[in-house]
Amino acid sequence: MHKVIVIGTGGIGKRHLRGLLETGRARLTLVEPDDGRRSEAETRFRPAASHAALADAHLGSHDLAIICTPAHLHVELMAECAAAGVSFLVEKPLAVSMDGVDDVIDRVRRAGVLARVGYIRRIAPEIQALRRQVIAGKIGDLKLVYANASQEFPKYRPDYRTTYYSRPDMGGGAILDAASHTFDLLIWMMGRPVTVGAMYDRLALEGSETEDTCLVTIRFESGAMANVTINQFQKPNVSSMEFIGTLGNLVVDHSVVRFADDDSGDSKEVRDFMEGLVPMAAHQARFTLQANAMLDALEGKPDFLATLDEGRTNLSVALAAKRSWQERRFVDLID
Ligand SMILES: NC(=O)c1ccc[n+]([C@@H]2O[C@H](COP(=O)([O-])OP(=O)(O)OC[C@H]3O[C@@H](n4cnc5c(N)ncnc54)[C@H](O)[C@@H]3O)[C@@H](O)[C@H]2O)c1
Repeated sequence: MHKVIVIGTGGIGKRHLRGLLETGRARLTLVEPDDGRRSEAETRFRPAASHAALADAHLGSHDLAIICTPAHLHVELMAECAAAGVSFLVEKPLAVSMDGVDDVIDRVRRAGVLARVGYIRRIAPEIQALRRQVIAGKIGDLKLVYANASQEFPKYRPDYRTTYYSRPDMGGGAILDAASHTFDLLIWMMGRPVTVGAMYDRLALEGSETEDTCLVTIRFESGAMANVTINQFQKPNVSSMEFIGTLGNLVVDHSVVRFADDDSGDSKEVRDFMEGLVPMAAHQARFTLQANAMLDALEGKPDFLATLDEGRTNLSVALAAKRSWQERRFVDLID
């Protein structure tokens, strides 16, 4: 059994706790300052130990930390893990600004601990299948991606006004909170981004200081380009990415992957990777897969989870998107 400490038991902390329990490989400690949430998590997940503050939790006695606080706290918590010699999985986004990011990555490297970022969409079987096909050359050279991830966010997070989501300084909004998932898949499949242009605004959601809509355009070192469209108020739930290559297109629409290489209007191959599954149960199951992948990595096995360097690149795209619209110009990413 691995000794795992989950820091923050809000929306995503609970998913991690359940995922970890379902691996049967983790002995849990939790840290949550909010009394109501802490006692709810204690009742549901029966941890071996539970604390209101990390300072009381003997961080260094754990094998792995899962950092599930809002993103403005990630840098200091990653630094605490590095200082205590504890490997960690930090939730996305890596941070809310570049302040302290390079320093903490350096500390983690020097501490020699394993560190990954919780970009959960990499776990999805449909995404892995699509990536394998792109790498195998099924659509020729990948040149363009059109991505749209849009839905009525308040339906899924009715408390959004009182969470980090409504605060730019805590990592909320369409760019840092939502688009960052898509940026991760693009970075994973298309390589190094070099130029970013964007528009964004709060078009509809009330009670939030963050943007609920963004249109982001990214150019990659390979010359390929991507367009990321997000709104968080529309009624239909859309999640689609079209990968356009010189020999054909692969589309992932929620869990369905389609391949076409002619103009007949028909797909040559269609596969639903969630056929027969309940969507929310399948989503939760991915946290078990992610927990197993992280524990495997801890045991020295190869993994495909996002690295801190990829999390940093992702953050630089998000921050460049914000700057692009604020300064009304394209922003080049320079390391
Ligand atoms: N991977 C995903 O699909 C996904 C989904 C939602 C959120 N997230 C990310 O997870 C993080 C948390 O999001 P959430 O929706 O769970 O937020 P949340 O507001 O629901 O929960 C955050 C929790 O952290 C606790 N907390 C605050 N400071 C703390 C501290 N110093 N020590 C321990 N706990 C502390 C809060 O009391 C709260 O319970 C964010 O970075 C967010 O972007 C990821």
